[in-house]
Amino acid sequence: MRMVDIIEKKRDGRDLTTDEITWFIHELTAERIPDYQTAALLMAIFLRGMSRRETVDLTLAIARSGDQLDLHDVAPFVVDKHSSGGVGDKTTLVVQPLVAACGVPVGKMSGRGLGSSGGTLDKMESFTGWSSAMPLAQFKRQLAEIGLVLAGQTAVLAPADGKLYALRDVTGTVASTPLIAASIMSKKLAAGADAILLDVKTGSGAFMPTVESARELARIMVDIGADAGRKTVALISDMNQPLGHAIGNALEVKEAIATLQGGGPADFWAHCREVAAHMLLLAGKASDLDAAKTMVTEVRNDGRALQKFRDMVTAQGGDGRQVDNPDLLPQAQLVEPIHAPQTGTIATIDTAAVGWAAVHLGGGRLVKSDQIDHAVGFILRAKVGDHFAAGETMGEIHANDATKLAQARQELLTAIQWTGETVRPLPHFYGTIS
Ligand code: URA
Repeated sequence: MRMVDIIEKKRDGRDLTTDEITWFIHELTAERIPDYQTAALLMAIFLRGMSRRETVDLTLAIARSGDQLDLHDVAPFVVDKHSSGGVGDKTTLVVQPLVAACGVPVGKMSGRGLGSSGGTLDKMESFTGWSSAMPLAQFKRQLAEIGLVLAGQTAVLAPADGKLYALRDVTGTVASTPLIAASIMSKKLAAGADAILLDVKTGSGAFMPTVESARELARIMVDIGADAGRKTVALISDMNQPLGHAIGNALEVKEAIATLQGGGPADFWAHCREVAAHMLLLAGKASDLDAAKTMVTEVRNDGRALQKFRDMVTAQGGDGRQVDNPDLLPQAQLVEPIHAPQTGTIATIDTAAVGWAAVHLGGGRLVKSDQIDHAVGFILRAKVGDHFAAGETMGEIHANDATKLAQARQELLTAIQWTGETVRPLPHFYGTIS
């Protein structure tokens, strides 16, 4: 087979065969396809889409591009969760320890930042020495001992996704239903979870702008999970404003720690509690959602969830002192307030623009080789429906460069639309697909 034929076929809107998809992923994994050809195919898929059969084929080929874990020798039932990507979405950092502290092992493969959305691995690398790269033996040992592992795309698990993900991030090919579905579900299948909770975001900061498109993505992922024999549930959640207050790697880690300590923004805690409770239900640990939420709240209040988080940080080489003293995490040199530019109520937030502003501060990548500045970002204590007087403080910008700070302030303020009318707060969730 020739890569150029496959690119042309998809460019012309025709379906790729199972053999063509399998061959492409095999050659990609063997590093026999140059980035420019992979990028061209990604763009063709982005523009032309994929049928359900092609999406399933792509998912399975990526899942098989490395090892496929069977974790049953160390954990009888493993639950995993994945978000489709958002701004300020540090949910994994809180939900994983909550669920593990309730006695349900969570072994998770996470990603890096993608487009305007942050990535769990980039956030966790705010901890000095923390690493997501690990041999399978460590993954299993840690799952057995702590019940909590946060691995990255490695040469071992779904390596093809790592290659595609890094290219999609910088070629404008992120927001594609088949590419997102295959990326998320291949990792989940390869990592051996028995049950999968999908947090599918919709809104101005999500790759799925409408509830309808989020439902479509959720539906195909739930179907792929069911075909593969995994219990899969998807929540459709709001991303028309950043989740919580912190946007930016170390800032988000600090907010996650505060939330595990019993504080943190109300919307973020409500979100984490709901996601964690659904995971407990999937694992059969609770009789109903309310009972599951009570369990989750208990392990937060008595410190067991924070202890799990600390255990995971140190098991993966991180400095546990930064959990107890988050001021030891990377700190920006410049911290300036954000003032409301006028009196009024926040009508809408272009959340992707806020995410891009954080990327431009240095918190994300514009090209594959960019180094992340973990310290930079925003604290935005402003939600749709909130009222501010002109000049009132809405949050802070954390930067390491005065020019970037000024630019980020401009981008952030432009992303917020004001009104003189009353605006209703946004819902957290739009439904569940199972
Ligand atoms: N998360 C992933 O792992 N992949 C995507 O494509 C989007 C979100």
